[in-house]
Amino acid sequence: MRNDMKCILLTKEEIAKRVCELGNQIAEEYKNEDAPLMICILKGSIVFFADLIREIDLPLKIEFMTASSYGSATVSSGRVKVVSELDNKIVGKNVILVEDIIDSGRTIAYIKNDMLTKGVKSLKVCALLDKPDRRVSDVHADYVGFIIPDEFVVGYGLDFDQQYRNFPDIGVLKPEMYAN
Ligand code: PRP
Repeated sequence: MRNDMKCILLTKEEIAKRVCELGNQIAEEYKNEDAPLMICILKGSIVFFADLIREIDLPLKIEFMTASSYGSATVSSGRVKVVSELDNKIVGKNVILVEDIIDSGRTIAYIKNDMLTKGVKSLKVCALLDKPDRRVSDVHADYVGFIIPDEFVVGYGLDFDQQYRNFPDIGVLKPEMYAN
């Protein structure tokens, strides 16, 4: 283990197994529906998204949008900044929003509320990680990879100050790495 990690919470093997299960579940649930439009919420979801879509055996399509609320802090700023030009592309579609983590829930609540006014046929959320202890917004994911404790995690797309996104496992960063 790297000496900047307090512990490894989820190994890449555990993540891969669960991502495969999620992909199979989504494929099963949409097999008689229009294939979903999968939307990756950048940047944190990029690794999960890339793995998940390859586990869904359906003729799906993909899009990307950017949302950020953390800046370089370890807790959400509470202000969600969204950049999206998807309005025309989601009308009448079965949309699945793909998130790396739901923490306070503000990001996904903001995006969901906005999309629900834009004529989607259906809207679901798939989150790799769910940290319910810190929820502020009343929101849940329809597909959840792992429920995790209230620890600051990095890796598999999740960052601290834009670093660690390429770490293949999900680890708990030592507090001294982000003190000050
Ligand atoms: C992270 C993560 C989620 C959001 C979850 O994004 O990717 O989008 O925070 O937190 P919340 O439930 O408290 O809103 P971040 O703002 O760090 O941007 P990033 O994806 O570019 O890292």
